[in-house]
Order: sequence, then C-alpha cells, then structure tokens
Amino acid sequence: MQNYRFKFALNNQLDVVLQITYIKYGNEVIRLYKIVKKKSINSQVELMEVYAPFTARKCEPGQFIILRVNDEGERIPLTIVDYDRKEGTVTIIYQVVGYSTRLLSKKNEGEYLNDFVGPLGQPAKLEKHKRVLGIGGGVGAAPLYPQLKKLKEMGVSVDVIIGGRSEEYIILEDEFKEVCDNIYFATNDGTKGTKGFVTDVLNELIKEGNNYDEVIAIGPLIMMKAVVDVTKPLNIKTGVSLNPIMIDGTGMCGGCRVTVGGETKFACVDGPDFDGFLVDFDECMRRQSYYKAEEEHVCKLDGIKNN
Ligand SMILES: Cc1cc2nc3c(=O)[nH]c(=O)nc-3n(C[C@H](O)[C@H](O)[C@H](O)COP(=O)(O)OP(=O)(O)OC[C@H]3O[C@@H](n4cnc5c(N)ncnc54)[C@H](O)[C@@H]3O)c2cc1C
Ligand code: FES
Repeated sequence: MQNYRFKFALNNQLDVVLQITYIKYGNEVIRLYKIVKKKSINSQVELMEVYAPFTARKCEPGQFIILRVNDEGERIPLTIVDYDRKEGTVTIIYQVVGYSTRLLSKKNEGEYLNDFVGPLGQPAKLEKHKRVLGIGGGVGAAPLYPQLKKLKEMGVSVDVIIGGRSEEYIILEDEFKEVCDNIYFATNDGTKGTKGFVTDVLNELIKEGNNYDEVIAIGPLIMMKAVVDVTKPLNIKTGVSLNPIMIDGTGMCGGCRVTVGGETKFACVDGPDFDGFLVDFDECMRRQSYYKAEEEHVCKLDGIKNN
C-alpha cells in the first residue's frame, strides 16, 4: 500500500493537503476507498459501499472502521454493516448528525474517502443458541443486522424488534425479513407496529411465553439500559454494543473508557460489545455528553453548521 500526499498553497495562510492511497496489484495500480455505491435510507440515514479490500477480507460482525473524509478531517468510527470479500467492499450506514457525517454525506458515488481503517474492535461473540432476539433502536438497527445475519447462517432461530421515532426511521426492514423468523416494530407515534418503546414489545413477547437464550440490543444507551432492566431480573443473557467517543480506536487515548463489571475497559479494543448486565450505563451516559458544547460549535471556517 502506498500513500501520496500533495500540498498546494491556497494563499499565504491556507494550504490544501490531498492524500491518495493506492495498492499495487500485479502491474495494476488501484486507488483505495472509492465509494462504489451510495443510497439514501431516510431523510437522516445513508448507506455507502466502499472499496476497502484489506478490511473486507478480514472483518467480522461487531467490528467497526474509522474513516476520515479528507486529510484534515476528524476520525469517525462507524460499524461494519456488511462486507463482500470477493468484491473487496465494506458497507457502512450512518446517520447525518453533525459536522463530519455531514461532510461524508456530501461525497458521491465514484468519489474517494481519504482513509478507512479497520477492522477495529473485537468480533461479536456469537453463540450457537436455539433462539435469539435482536433489538435495534434507530440507526442501531444497522450494527445489529450483521450479527443476526451471522446467527442465522449458524442455524440459530432469530427474531427481531426494530424501533424508531416513526415509520420513516425504521431501517433495513427487507434485510431483517430475510434473516429473521419473526419481525416486530415499535414506533413512538404508532405509525408502524406497537405505539411505544421496543421494551413494550419485549415485555409482550415474554408475557406470551417466548423463550430466548440471548437478547442482543443495539441502539441509544437509554434504550439498551431499559432492555437490561427487563432482561436482568429474568436472567436472559443480554449483549449490548457501546459507542463512546473514540479517537484513535486502538486503545491508546483512553477516550472510550467504560466500566464493565467494576473494571475499566476500552470499548475500542475490548468491545464494542459487552455483557449488558455488567455495563455501568449511568457513567456511559455522563461521559457521552462531555463534548456537547464543542459539538454544537458552528464552524466559521467553511460555514458548515452543526445544526
Ligand atoms: C464503535 C462505534 C460504532 C459506531 N457506529 C455507527 C454507525 O454504524 N452508524 C452511525 O450513524 N453512527 C455510528 N457511530 C457514531 C458515529 O461515530 C458518530 O455519529 C459520528 O462520529 C458523529 O460525528 P459528527 O461530526 O457528524 O457529529 P458531532 O456533532 O461531532 O457529534 C454528534 C454525536 O456523535 C457522537 N460522536 C461524535 N464524535 C464521535 C467519536 N469520535 N466517536 C464516537 N462517537 C462520536 C456523540 O454522541 C455526539 O453527541 C459509532 C460510534 C462508535 C464509537
Ligand atoms: S478510542 Fe482511544 S482508547 Fe479507545
């Protein structure tokens, strides 16, 4: 793999730096991180398939990548939603929430990302149970999908509850239908499925006598905590995926520190998946709001607003 960096002076104060990453394949030179597909999923969520053959070759469900849109860009962690080892592509699904995801959203098919590092983190520990229930909240349904797909391939019977604010925010319905035996929905406004929370559906399924060996919940911290509040007293094993602020993604900065079972863990190298019974969710929620003021900052340099 080779990186080329080009630097142009825009004026006496501003430089433009362009980094291009290539691999040599026989006599051919191929540029990496091309966006081979881009699709809008709803008004806030988009899907991208990126040519990243080294990541595609090794990644497993539960792992993530860190990308930078341009050479001076922020590093943003995103879960690997799918991969095609033959084509060398990795699929990501992201919600446009702030500065960097907005920059990412400006990129189109045929354009390139500056870098795309991965696979990072531990693969999810998927066990060959009889029956598993997945619970995905909002864009959390995206990281849940590869785990349920893999469980289905392992011969596990899989059900799923997908939650969102309204019908528009229910994502990947067709993909889940392909891998799940039963699919349930919960929306805050009742536009699809049960009017209420994913935990209302979970309580109903348990009341009806459904037995699950494990629940995998991925979504906002408050949702994962609420799921654990239901499953822990019933001793239904529950896996959750944590997404604290990550900077290097390799265990060096300590930014992604979480407390699990009374021990300090780094979500980027020890996770991001953990035993939900052991996670200190209150601490996670406190730490996630540390940088709220900075995130709300309006960038005066190029006029891109955060809100
Ligand atoms: C392991 C992991 C996997 C993730 N997978 C996905 C995914 O598949 N799809 C998706 O839409 N989002 C995912 N995220 C969250 C995603 O990284 C943030 O939405 C993104 O970094 C926001 O950047 P921004 O500049 O657009 O927004 P900002 O305005 O900077 O931040 C908006 C919110 O995003 C979160 N965030 C910001 N910077 C980071 C960071 N460096 N690390 C973690 N969170 C951050 C914070 O909660 C913040 O409040 C994941 C995060 C982690 C840690
Ligand atoms: S992101 Fe730096 S230690 Fe995990």
